[in-house]
Formats: sequence, C-alpha cells, structure tokens
Amino acid sequence: MYQALYRTYRPETFEGLMGQEHIIRILKNQLETGTTSHAYLFSGTRGTGKTTVARILAKGLNCMGEGNRPCGTCSSCREIRDGLFLDVIEIDAASNNGVDNIRELRESVKYPPSVGRKKVYIIDEVHMLSPGAFNALLKTLEEPPEYVTFILATTELQKLPATILSRCLRLDFRRVSEKSLKEGIQRICGELGVVMEEDATGVIAAAADGSVRDCLSILDQCTAAGSGRVTRQDVLEVLGTPGEEIFIEWTDRILRHQIPEALQMLDTLLGEGKEVRQLMKDWISHYRNLMLTKFMKNPEDLINLSKENVERIREQSQRTDMAEISDAILQLSRTLQDARWSTQPRILLEVAIVTLASGMADQPPLIRPAAPPAPKASPVPKASPAPTVPKATETSSVPDTDGLWHRIFEDGEAMKSSYNLIRTCTSLQSVGETEFTVAATSEIKKQYVLDNKDGLEKLMEKHTGRFRSLRCIVGGEGEGQAGGRDTLEERKARIENAFNIHVEIE
Ligand SMILES: Nc1ncnc2c1ncn2[C@@H]1O[C@H](COP(=O)(O)OP(=O)(O)OP(=O)(O)O)[C@@H](O)[C@H]1O
Ligand SMILES: [Mg+2]
Ligand SMILES: [Zn+2]
Repeated sequence: MYQALYRTYRPETFEGLMGQEHIIRILKNQLETGTTSHAYLFSGTRGTGKTTVARILAKGLNCMGEGNRPCGTCSSCREIRDGLFLDVIEIDAASNNGVDNIRELRESVKYPPSVGRKKVYIIDEVHMLSPGAFNALLKTLEEPPEYVTFILATTELQKLPATILSRCLRLDFRRVSEKSLKEGIQRICGELGVVMEEDATGVIAAAADGSVRDCLSILDQCTAAGSGRVTRQDVLEVLGTPGEEIFIEWTDRILRHQIPEALQMLDTLLGEGKEVRQLMKDWISHYRNLMLTKFMKNPEDLINLSKENVERIREQSQRTDMAEISDAILQLSRTLQDARWSTQPRILLEVAIVTLASGMADQPPLIRPAAPPAPKASPVPKASPAPTVPKATETSSVPDTDGLWHRIFEDGEAMKSSYNLIRTCTSLQSVGETEFTVAATSEIKKQYVLDNKDGLEKLMEKHTGRFRSLRCIVGGEGEGQAGGRDTLEERKARIENAFNIHVEIE
C-alpha cells in the first residue's frame, strides 16, 4: 500500500527538523546538562513537529551513544524509533481518555524503567482527557518518581486546566517559516533523487502555510508522477491554481475591455476544474502583485514568483493605472465576500468581469450580499452546535451539495489553509442520514482526506446541524464546481436577466 511521505519521513534526531530552533536549543541544552524537566507540554499548530520532537526527546533521555544525544543509531534510539522500547510509552488520549486509563498509567508509573534510564510517557492529544482523567493525571504530575518524564502534546492549549499547565514546562511549536520549509524540501528532494525547481519550492512552501505535514503532503503529490523533475507548473496543477500567466492575460482582457474573451477565459478555467472562489482569490493577489510592483523596487521579496513572472508583472503594472488596480481589488473582494453565501458564485464573478471590463467599477455594488454579514468564522467554533449561516442547510436533506461543500471549505480554510488542497481534489457526492460521501481524484488524495476526517466531520456537523461520518471514495472526478458549459449567448442572457444590466458580445 502507498505510504505517505509524511509517514515515512520523520526526523530521527534534532538535526533533521525544520524550524522550531527555539525549542531545539532548550532541549539540547537540558539533555547536555542533565537538567531535563519532569513534565513537558508541547503545544501548537498541527503538523509542526510535536509528536516528532517528543520521540526525539524520549530518545535523548535514553540514548546510549557518546557525544550529541540522541545519536539515532544506538540500540535504544532504534528501538524507540520502531516503537519497541519498553520504557517509552505512547498514549493517544483521544481514544484512552477515561479515568481508568489514567489510573492504569499511575499504576505503571510505580515501576522503574526496565531497560532504559528514564521511563517516558508521551500523552498525545492530551486535551481529549475527561475531567476525571485530568484529575487523576494531576496527582502523578505533582510528584512523579525521578525516573519518569511526561511529555504531553496538544493543539488546543486553551482546553487544558490551569493546574496541568502550571506543572509542565511549556514549549510552543510555531508555524515553520517558508525559508526553513524551502530548505527542508530541497534536502528531501536530494534524498529522493528528485530535482525541484527553485520557484516550485517557493510555491509549495507558501501553500503549506507553516505546517510541515502539509508541506510534505504537497511535495508527495508533486513527486508522485515520478518524472524525477518538478516544475512550478506541476505544483500549481497539484494545488489546483492556474499560473500567474493566466492572470496576466485575464487582466489584459479587462484592461482592453474585451468582455467576451474575459468571460471565455473563465469558462475555460472552470472547464479545467478550477474553483470559482479560488480563482477570485488568486486574481486578487495578482492585482496585489501589480500594485506592489508599481511601488517597490524589489517586489520579489514579497511576492512568491519566478524572475520571469516578476518581469511580466512589472511590464503589465507599468501600463496599468493605480485606479484600475484598486477598483479591481475592491470589486473582486466584494464579489468574493458575496460569493460566500451564494450558490451561484460563477455568475457573481461573471458580473464582476463585466463590471470591471466595462469600466463601471466605481459605481455602487450591483449585488447585495445574499445573507446578513455574519461574523467571520472563528478558528475553533466549539460552543455552538447549531448551524450558523446559511439557513437552508438546517434540514437533514441537503440538496445543494456543491454549495454546502464550498461553505464548509470557506469555513475550513479559516482554520487550516491546507483544506484548500482537499477542496481542489474532491467533490461531495452525497449527504445521507448518517454519513456523507466524498469523492477524491486519486488514492493519495483520498488518504489526505482521511487524514483530515475529524475536522471535516466537525465542519459538516456544524453546517448541517447533525453528525455524519465521512466516507471517501476514489473517482467521480471533474464533478467540482465548474457546472455545465453553456454558450456565451446563454450566459449573456443569464447575466442580463439576473442583474438587469446590458451585456455586449463583440
Ligand atoms: N518541524 C518538523 N521538521 C521536520 N518534519 C516535521 C516537522 N514537523 C512535522 N514534520 C513532519 O510531519 C509529520 C507529522 O509531524 P508530527 O506528528 O510531529 O506533527 P504534530 O505537531 O504532532 O501534529 P499533530 O498536532 O497533528 O499531532 C512528521 O512525520 C514529519 O514528517
Ligand atoms: Mg502529534
Ligand atoms: Zn542513541
């Protein structure tokens, strides 16, 4: 069976880690001077190295090598790597969250290590413990035997009782910088024997948004084709975003008032399976690039593009007015905002295109938001089991699967930018009474969906008011958002009808 890169590739020592220098420094120093703590709490974003570092620390505490510990090669290090070392105990609090589980743990704490120097308990997802279990754990954390080290890990620090926090050395795992990710990607590609073009690396690092796991997952999909060489275009295809070239051309159409051509380009992009809202976002950032290039000598530092593309953008920005740029940014942002609540985002973008290309942009917005401006989804919407907007999905039958799926991702992206990756390679097939079915375009993507099962189920529950379990199948590609293709004439009529404006096809 296929093994994802982020499963097979896990650094064995401090040396292989990306970012987290502030944590590595502290732990290395403690290991060298024999001043490690009794209890650690690793907190921070998903996929940034908490579990990985917990295992490295467990090795460091039991390593039998000389010099820098852990060595990664002695028998203790190897056994810990393989999960065979008796004195390193990993507990997944998500599935062992009861008082009994912790009581068992307390019993076992009484016995000294059987082979190693320290008995290390790694409690992952510790925020899942029940209140009773927390209490039971507290007693042990208070006065553990000197041969015991606890390493608790969580993404949700705010759910831990203060009594636990105050007994641990807290280390916060940060999102990893693009620079560190880029270096990591190049190193791994070297090991895999893959040549990755420099600007391709930049696109991956930017899309991963600080999560190493996401970074590796994207890298994995890019190298899966097996050609041994990855270009920027390959990465863009995996991410489901068209290259900058497309936006340069699209913008040119707007500047030259070529409405039919601009609409035709949209049709083509959607036909290729691109997603409307993502197109809006990418187009907005293209206009931002134009703006930055207008005012900055070296915009390369702020925009993640190849030298060639920066040159093309510079050329376009020189012949574009700042007023046109700002009109476009405002119009497209407004359209994106409206599209959040709309089941017809495509038409909204078509209207924006017509508006911009006909030079009507400075008039008041043509479209009113379809729903009241709801507060932006907060990162962890816990307390409200009731569905937020939109109202239409309150019932258990969910006719508009496309719209629902997109709303889920609008919400999801606020929590986890990598959800975008899932959206580009999936469609929602059906929503039943107890489960919903998602179609992914390939095996790898299916795995990626399943890795995010919990999060997606939570979002589905939030948006439909009922828990359903996720089922993922492979196939059913191209069912995305594109919708049917229709002729320019039909679309002209549709736009004119819907928004009471006149559209001219040249
Ligand atoms: N800082 C890092 N350096 C190198 N690789 C990393 C780093 N962080 C994560 N990874 C990679 O991502 C995978 C997942 O990392 P890990 O399990 O340590 O993340 P985590 O912070 O525990 O995430 P979660 O909160 O989801 O449990 C690892 O197998 C490894 O390949
Ligand atoms: Mg983890
Ligand atoms: Zn060792």
